[in-house]
Amino acid sequence: MALLLLPSGWVVPAWAAPVLAAPVWAAPVSTAPVLGAQTLAVASGRGQELFSAHCAGCHAGGGNIQRRGKTLRLAALERRQLASAEAIARIAAAGIGQMSGYDKVLGEGGAEAVGQWVWSQAQAGWPQT
Ligand code: HEC
Repeated sequence: MALLLLPSGWVVPAWAAPVLAAPVWAAPVSTAPVLGAQTLAVASGRGQELFSAHCAGCHAGGGNIQRRGKTLRLAALERRQLASAEAIARIAAAGIGQMSGYDKVLGEGGAEAVGQWVWSQAQAGWPQT
């Protein structure tokens, strides 16, 4: 019987190869969590940079120098039902009340990145200020 040596080192009969090949060739699955973590780290790094460049002028440390109560701290966001990365990303892009939107300067995916970063900071009590 013909045998196939698969990348994992498994030896299987040739007839079984098509069945077994799928999971074996899907080997990137094992690296996916690593890639995911890297992607997330990159996204949060970008979110932090975008925040420093475009938001910190008014929201340094998660505060608000223009409207004192309308901060990016957890309690304020919850009060206004903005307690999610998505809600913050929407505001970053489109603005809210007296704040204008920053979709043009944030670039592709920028609003989402900054939304995620702000949300993680809000949940952690703004440690990185
Ligand atoms: C020029 C000053 C200014 C800049 C820059 C700015 N904001 Fe704001 N932001 C405000 C003001 C003023 C409000 C309150 C708006 C209102 O409700 O009238 C606000 C409100 C918010 C809120 C709602 C907070 C709450 O408690 O209601 C979020 C979230 C927010 N900004 C995120 C951002 C993000 C993210 C950026 C960067 C992309 C950003 N802002 C840049 C002035 C600014």
